[in-house]
Amino acid sequence: MSLNNRIALVTGSNQGIGLAIAEVLARHGADIVLHGLCAVEEGERQARELTEAWGTGVSFLPADLGVPDEAAGLVEAAVARHGRLDILVNNAGIQYTAPLDEYPLARWDAIQAINLRAPFLLTQAALPHMRRQGWGRIVNIASVHGLVASVNKSAYCAAKHGLVGLTKVAALETATDGITVNAICPGWTETPILEPQIAARAAQLGTGRDAAIRSLVAEKQPNQTLMPPAWIGEMAAFLCSDAAAGITGTALPVDGGWTAQ
Ligand SMILES: NC(=O)c1ccc[n+]([C@@H]2O[C@H](COP(=O)([O-])OP(=O)(O)OC[C@H]3O[C@@H](n4cnc5c(N)ncnc54)[C@H](O)[C@@H]3O)[C@@H](O)[C@H]2O)c1
Repeated sequence: MSLNNRIALVTGSNQGIGLAIAEVLARHGADIVLHGLCAVEEGERQARELTEAWGTGVSFLPADLGVPDEAAGLVEAAVARHGRLDILVNNAGIQYTAPLDEYPLARWDAIQAINLRAPFLLTQAALPHMRRQGWGRIVNIASVHGLVASVNKSAYCAAKHGLVGLTKVAALETATDGITVNAICPGWTETPILEPQIAARAAQLGTGRDAAIRSLVAEKQPNQTLMPPAWIGEMAAFLCSDAAAGITGTALPVDGGWTAQ
């Protein structure tokens, strides 16, 4: 599988699942635009490391995806830097858990803005470039919570179910344009986004971090494994390949069996 000469923008790729996706795409030959909320010097240092490791062109662009103009502007900045855009991975996301009846409005709005509105704006900005080329791949990192629900995750479930819906509409509207649009729905994956939930479970059980992780995973995920982010990266790379040209409008679980129950 080769992604040589493809330019890929991966949002939220300075850490976690986004960084793993960037690494796997670079390993398959794609040039990468890294993005995240980290300091520019840190992002540029990571870009140099990826370039050295995989020999592909990697740059870093900052943008706060909670600000509509910055979200749309990120695509234009990526095209200005690399001359084209072939692959968009909408990965950046945030989480906040609380019961529905006490869920803070500001947290709700932030989750909708970053997890759902930003992918809409980035897709809107990317489509003209992909249509002009007659080739494009959009991969939205949704969640098992785009398919099923869990308590205390009203804003996140609403946004991720919305992202799965956005994926399907975008797939239908691009079906004859050489563009595919798919969502990946990860289960528990080892990244910093989980730390508040791990700390809360440890406090609830009066245990350490490892026991808290085992408890969280045992509750939902049949493979009993906190998954390495590279497992999501491998699925993203396949969806971006020519081999996956016929796959569009899907929401693919990488969830250790969570949604099979
Ligand atoms: N880790 C899991 O178990 C899991 C499971 C299912 C889905 N996901 C999804 O995977 C995606 C990546 O999450 P992760 O687990 O790697 O978390 P993470 O916290 O490690 O990474 C989140 C990324 O989003 C970026 N980001 C956050 N707010 C931003 C903003 N306002 N503007 C721009 N960038 C912003 C951060 O810079 C970071 O790069 C998210 O969409 C998340 O919902 C994660």
